[in-house]
Amino acid sequence: MEATTLSLSAGLDRVFYRAADEFFPAHAGLALTYDDASLATLYSEILPKEADFATVLAPGLLLQLPVVSADMDTVTESRMAIALALNGGLGLIHYNMPMRQQLSEVSRVKNHVHGLIREPIKVSPDQQIGDVLALIEDKKFSFSTFPVVDQSGVLLGLLPGQCVRPRFAGRPVTEAMIPRAAVLTIREDELGDDPIARADRFFTDNIGIHKLLVVDAGDRLRGLFTLSDIERITQEHSLRTKPARDGKFRLVCGAALSALRDASGKLDRPALLDHVGALVERGLDAVAVSTAHGHTLGVGDAVRAIREAFPALPIIAGNVTSASGVEFLASCGASTVKVGQGPGSICTTRVVAGVGIPQLTALYVCSKAAEQFGVTILADGGITKSGDIVKALTLADAVICGSLLAGCPEAPGQIMEINGKFYKQYRGMGSHAAMKAGSAARYGHAKDSAQKSAAEGVEALKEVSAPADTVLAQLAGGLQSGMGYLGAATLADLRKNARYTRITAAGMRESAPHDIIEVKTGNG
Ligand code: XMP
Repeated sequence: MEATTLSLSAGLDRVFYRAADEFFPAHAGLALTYDDASLATLYSEILPKEADFATVLAPGLLLQLPVVSADMDTVTESRMAIALALNGGLGLIHYNMPMRQQLSEVSRVKNHVHGLIREPIKVSPDQQIGDVLALIEDKKFSFSTFPVVDQSGVLLGLLPGQCVRPRFAGRPVTEAMIPRAAVLTIREDELGDDPIARADRFFTDNIGIHKLLVVDAGDRLRGLFTLSDIERITQEHSLRTKPARDGKFRLVCGAALSALRDASGKLDRPALLDHVGALVERGLDAVAVSTAHGHTLGVGDAVRAIREAFPALPIIAGNVTSASGVEFLASCGASTVKVGQGPGSICTTRVVAGVGIPQLTALYVCSKAAEQFGVTILADGGITKSGDIVKALTLADAVICGSLLAGCPEAPGQIMEINGKFYKQYRGMGSHAAMKAGSAARYGHAKDSAQKSAAEGVEALKEVSAPADTVLAQLAGGLQSGMGYLGAATLADLRKNARYTRITAAGMRESAPHDIIEVKTGNG
């Protein structure tokens, strides 16, 4: 009796909630996106906090959080890429900047040591304590202990906070400072694989010391750890996702470029390979050939050229929405394919050009080709909530977020106030302004004619949001909830277990808060 009931239930579930290979072909000819479908729950022994969402994006490129920040000039520069990598994801530095600047953005990420203040505020031996007090007042510093260095950055001593008082204003810094010989320091090359653990040990071993100065072989000041930072970081350590690091314990970083062309319109192979070579020299973990239409001769040539010259480098290429597009880029040597044409919050490709495929169907079609041709896929664009990420990851290996991160303080751009609310600019890379700043090639236009070309993106504003740490923690939490509901311990389980159903606009309305007066959003 029990067995009959069970099989009846299982049969019912199977009819109504279908696996991807039944659900999507049953809707062939009708393209669906995130809000068109919902996932069915399944028997689960997995608590959300146990769900592990690590993903291997390409050989040697392991992400602890399957989230990539968009290579857009209002989303990802080094600050955002550092935040992404610290939270387990990957930032793709955009290419609307001179190559030299892009290289230094990548270096900043690769050289970032969490907790190490790279450019500590210093004072010089010819200053008086009164000058230091004025500096604190002027810059509103909340600390008053400063390293003392000479003109070439060589460490001379440490000015302790308890001496920085008005009563000593007329006395020279050199009189109050702890002399170099008595200052405890560590050499940069002795920090080892885990600088946080090293600094933590130092503070435990040296009771009463609150600052650890880092110097190079020439005794020049290279950075500073503070006890309070290290304590905060070690407390957070157990809560947050592990950072995404390379084999040398550096944070991972990606960078985008377009299929560079020479004056005759042909692929500028030497310039392209020089650019990639310089990025690789700085430790780049993945290069992204980012265009609006990746199933093209130009993108294929660029990917082929990079693959020939850099056999082991993870290459992300796109964008496509068809199985043939994935097959093409895989055959050219891409390791990861970006899927998405027109779903982005700032995109107008579908309006302007009438092309593009709603994202869930595009992901299903592309995921089948990706499986066959041995590449991974990124769900790029249209992610507006963590539930979309869960749905996307039933088909893709990671997601790309633009809009969800553009309001974070780590995104490039100034905060502006309008009618008492705070905003940051967020613009499509196919908007006139962004194309003029360099991204025209991504949309197949020349930079100087960009103004006359049809824009495929808009310029917009995003309300300033919480820092990237908080936003990413919320997304990770949502993803873990989804995995718990589907009994998925890993992303492979999520993909295997997913069962879909179509929903209507009424169903979607029911899915979000309704018939209430909302006083506090879910995000606090
Ligand atoms: P979200 O929805 O996260 O999307 O804001 C970010 C993705 O949108 C793509 N993108 C564009 N697509 N015109 C387009 O058609 C544009 O101007 C544009 N700018 C960015 C890109 O794939 C990004 O990752």
